[in-house]
Amino acid sequence: TLIWIITLLVAYLLGSIPTGYLLVRFFKNEDVRATGSGNIGATNVARSGGKGLGIATLVLDALKGFVAVAFAWHMAQRLGFPSGYDLEAMAGLFAVLGHMYTVWLGFKGGKGVATALGVFLYLMPLTTLFAVVIFAIIFALTKYVSLASIISAAALAVLCIFFDRRHQLIVDLVYIAIPLLVIVKHHANISRLLNRTEPKFGAKKKEA
Ligand code: G3P
Repeated sequence: TLIWIITLLVAYLLGSIPTGYLLVRFFKNEDVRATGSGNIGATNVARSGGKGLGIATLVLDALKGFVAVAFAWHMAQRLGFPSGYDLEAMAGLFAVLGHMYTVWLGFKGGKGVATALGVFLYLMPLTTLFAVVIFAIIFALTKYVSLASIISAAALAVLCIFFDRRHQLIVDLVYIAIPLLVIVKHHANISRLLNRTEPKFGAKKKEA
């Protein structure tokens, strides 16, 4: 259990690094939370800080999720756990929670899309690539990053449970919990999508 506590704490702390906030603070000396959607994720960093910083945020946020799970794998191997897969999945969940409720920004944070991407790329790489294709198609058709995120997150949960033959309860619960958290975090986007006030990516229009 000590191993679990240490691993999940490390995963949370990795996830809690507010990379988008830090990049915009450092390179633009602005608070990303004061522009666009107010989110600290790649999409809003791209809005306020430009594409380069947006891509950097996407990569780094994904990386922290990936590294959190890789760390859990390493811990499980070291200790000769029979199956470390549940620990890996829980570490992924804690990394996403760290991103969404970061201790460094008063327990507020991002929507978890990029961090979840990193986590799932480690846990279920091929299935995740399939979800990325779904994301790309929806984004190409609608230009709504949020809609693409929501639909691909839901699809990812279903696909992972379908394709993962191990069927461990904790792991399956994580497959549902992470996408569910991501979708719930998009509640403001969902209202805007329904109102037809959600800005399309690249549009110059201001957001509430
Ligand atoms: O990654 C979050 C994205 O789906 C939506 O971001 O800033 O438009 O709320 P944003």
